[in-house]
Amino acid sequence: MATRLFEGKTHASYYQKYRFSPPQEVQDLIFNYIGERLSKPYGFAVDVGCGTGQGTKILVPYFEKILGTDISPAQIGEANNANDSPNVTYSVSPAEEMPVDDASVDLVTACAAAHWFNIEGFYKEVDRMLKPRGCLAICTYVSDMEVHYKDRSEQLTQVFKEVQEKLSLYENEKLRIVKTGYKELFDAIPYADKKWVENMRTKMPMLLSDFLGLIQTFSTFQNFLKRETEKAEEFIVTTEKRFLEILGVSSTEIDIEVWLSNVCLLATKPK
Ligand SMILES: C[S@@+](CC[C@H](N)C(=O)[O-])C[C@H]1O[C@@H](n2cnc3c(N)ncnc32)[C@H](O)[C@@H]1O
Repeated sequence: MATRLFEGKTHASYYQKYRFSPPQEVQDLIFNYIGERLSKPYGFAVDVGCGTGQGTKILVPYFEKILGTDISPAQIGEANNANDSPNVTYSVSPAEEMPVDDASVDLVTACAAAHWFNIEGFYKEVDRMLKPRGCLAICTYVSDMEVHYKDRSEQLTQVFKEVQEKLSLYENEKLRIVKTGYKELFDAIPYADKKWVENMRTKMPMLLSDFLGLIQTFSTFQNFLKRETEKAEEFIVTTEKRFLEILGVSSTEIDIEVWLSNVCLLATKPK
């Protein structure tokens, strides 16, 4: 059965505001990989579990036609509101039952999403949708982020570690797949031509206010909020105070750098 999270409208609007596209290094990895396998112009790409379109947007300059799909109507609503690309459409659909013709797709992507899917059902759909020699790219960032600012990085990262520890009490068991670097998703890819790139460290400049917003998009925080609303709200206020104290400032509009660890799985369907 599919895991139903990310359904609330407020969660989706936070998502639209605070979630980011895959880092440039991950995008380069994906586009270099397909550059060696697909011939240009690239035709049709499908981004599964697209949320509000963070990973869908990166496909726009490369593909003639792009479809983003997600099981959550609230996420697709936000994606549609923000869509200004004539070659992109969004549709509500489970990853395990895609509204796409057989052998019609050149690239299937899933960004920070595949761990939520029923993986057997998803890979079956990937195989059905892909053209022969079509490609699959699955990526995510993992939760052990580092927070950097001048000589305060160690203290800031320690606070974030404690935030993660607290939020782990509200963790869905599917997050185990992320913590183990998508190994089981890699092993289950039904193609011989496949590649697992892990521990790609990337750096992302961000305002502290946006980082606090990002924390609130985590499924763990959303579970906390649902179960213990007041405590979850207090937790964010306290976390903000702790960061501000370490930084020695009074406003969250301060530039920090968040270091991410990324994983990317790449595969090609045989002829
Ligand atoms: C963490 S979000 C990632 C969104 C976006 N791709 C990104 O890069 O930020 C995971 C998304 O997967 C969607 N999702 C979860 N299970 C799904 C399923 N079985 N089929 C399709 N989408 C699903 C959720 O609704 C959510 O929008």
